[in-house]
Amino acid sequence: MDLNCKTIKLTLFVSLTIYMILFGYFLYPLLNITVSYKNIISPVTKRLAFGQKIQTFSKGKKALTFIEDLDEKCEDFHKESIELKKCSDTVHEKYGHHTKNYTLPTIRQDRCHCCFPKLSYIFNSNKVCAGAQPIEIVIFITSTYNRRTRRDILRQTWASHEAEKLYNTRHVFLFGMSKNKTVNYLIKKENNEFQDMVQGDFLDSYRNLTYKTIFGIRWAVQFCPNAKFVMKTDDDMWVNTRHLVANMSQWETKNSTNHLIGNCKYKDYPHRWKTSKWYVTKEEYPHTLYPGLCSGAGYMMSQNLSREIARISRNIPYFFLEDVYVSLCIEALGAPYGLYNISRFADARPIRYKSCEIHGQYTAHNVPGYQMLNEWKNTTNCLKHFLKLSQNSRFLGLYNRTWKYKND
Ligand SMILES: *[C@@H]1O[C@H](CO)[C@@H](O)[C@H](O)[C@H]1NC(C)=O
Ligand SMILES: *[C@@H]1O[C@H](CO)[C@@H](O)[C@H](O)[C@H]1NC(C)=O
Ligand SMILES: *[C@@H]1O[C@H](CO)[C@@H](O)[C@H](O)[C@H]1NC(C)=O
Ligand SMILES: *[C@@H]1O[C@H](CO)[C@@H](O)[C@H](O)[C@H]1NC(C)=O
Ligand SMILES: *[C@@H]1O[C@H](CO)[C@@H](O)[C@H](O)[C@H]1NC(C)=O
Ligand SMILES: *[C@@H]1O[C@H](CO)[C@@H](O)[C@H](O)[C@H]1NC(C)=O
Ligand SMILES: *[C@@H]1O[C@H](CO)[C@@H](O)[C@H](O)[C@H]1NC(C)=O
Ligand SMILES: *[C@@H]1O[C@H](CO)[C@@H](O)[C@H](O)[C@H]1NC(C)=O
Ligand SMILES: *[C@@H]1O[C@H](CO)[C@@H](O)[C@H](O)[C@H]1NC(C)=O
Repeated sequence: MDLNCKTIKLTLFVSLTIYMILFGYFLYPLLNITVSYKNIISPVTKRLAFGQKIQTFSKGKKALTFIEDLDEKCEDFHKESIELKKCSDTVHEKYGHHTKNYTLPTIRQDRCHCCFPKLSYIFNSNKVCAGAQPIEIVIFITSTYNRRTRRDILRQTWASHEAEKLYNTRHVFLFGMSKNKTVNYLIKKENNEFQDMVQGDFLDSYRNLTYKTIFGIRWAVQFCPNAKFVMKTDDDMWVNTRHLVANMSQWETKNSTNHLIGNCKYKDYPHRWKTSKWYVTKEEYPHTLYPGLCSGAGYMMSQNLSREIARISRNIPYFFLEDVYVSLCIEALGAPYGLYNISRFADARPIRYKSCEIHGQYTAHNVPGYQMLNEWKNTTNCLKHFLKLSQNSRFLGLYNRTWKYKND
């Protein structure tokens, strides 16, 4: 075949654009079908005003959910994804007697056929949510081996046994593999002590963070189906489980169970300059806009939504920015799913919180360990400070409890 990829794409682009202009606006809403948009040309170009509290993705894309079962029934895939693959195949071009072979740059496709790897467990802590009774929130915390101090601080504050018993939450720390055997041994050993860690069979690195997130979501769906909500956070975060649980009724509304809850943007641009930490090439992400994102510092989703994300992610090609990746999954699910921006969820900015301020947040980023420990101990002092925050009696009830520490 002599047609090269560029020609195919251009033809597709032109014809699809005409098609979309003519029919998209008028006919599509009337037809209850999925537009089979091909290949690279499906940027998310919805116009969304900043300051909106909620963003629901448009209807119609849900038909692209192929996987029925979490444990992979991937053979029943859409034809489209095979055709798409051709564009990254090797191309042979003849120049006289010579044949030049080259591989076209692999452009990230919006969909694929089961290309996101199955991730498996090196070791697991599958008893974290043991028991039949409902759990309010299960929180998976991305961590790395050399952050033991942080883990220990969390284990003494919001992720402590006492707090988890009181607020009915659970936590687990997530790890990938290290090339260093000693390190793998050390985290296994740490887990023998705490039983709150899980290790996946992918290499632990920044560019692999999306594996860790999806791994965590799958873990929660598999081993914590009794949790109402699943939350993702990092080991440098303060998570105010007390607040979150006190306001549980707020999260149990329809919008909240169908939306990713966090500090969200509904429109964001890929960074195209090389010096950026979040530099993304056109091959990695060909569109000009992300479908929004909720800051990876901490977001929460219902059990239903995490199940949906776990399923569809198998058909969403890897993208290394995990918060963008998750919203790509949600965009692919389409309505009624979306993103929900809630103030008092922290974004990635390194804010220094004043004394007691973290108690007014659902999540707080970059809180120094000593501050966390200190303020956790003086919770009742902070109550006075934040009494005005809520007239919610359940919230006040929870605050009144006094804390006991091992070392006290
Ligand atoms: C989300 O909430 C934050 C904090 O309240 C706010 O600064 C931001 O503008 C909001 N974003 C959107 C898209 O509404
Ligand atoms: C290019 O690929 C063709 C078919 O696979 C092969 O016969 C040929 O030797 C290759 N040419 C080069 C230069 O690798
Ligand atoms: C492996 O990790 C251990 C513990 O952190 C460290 O002491 C050792 O130097 C590391 N080995 C290599 C080869 O990096
Ligand atoms: C991510 O994990 C995969 C699978 O273990 C590994 O092959 C790859 O090298 C890792 N990537 C990075 C950037 O570490
Ligand atoms: C719970 O949600 C309500 C309504 O959004 C809010 O006014 C209140 O401050 C929240 N309570 C806590 C403890 O965050
Ligand atoms: C929740 O969704 C409904 C429509 O289903 C909408 O009218 C309402 O404004 C949404 N609530 C919030 C807080 O955005
Ligand atoms: C979860 O999904 C099921 C099936 O779609 C639905 O019946 C149920 O109401 C959903 N639960 C919540 C909390 O949204
Ligand atoms: C916590 O307690 C210590 C000692 O009692 C006190 O110095 C400090 O100001 C308190 N911090 C807060 C936030 O109340
Ligand atoms: C908790 O403290 C508040 C304020 O001090 C008080 O009004 C309330 O009765 C207390 N509630 C319980 C359950 O102790």
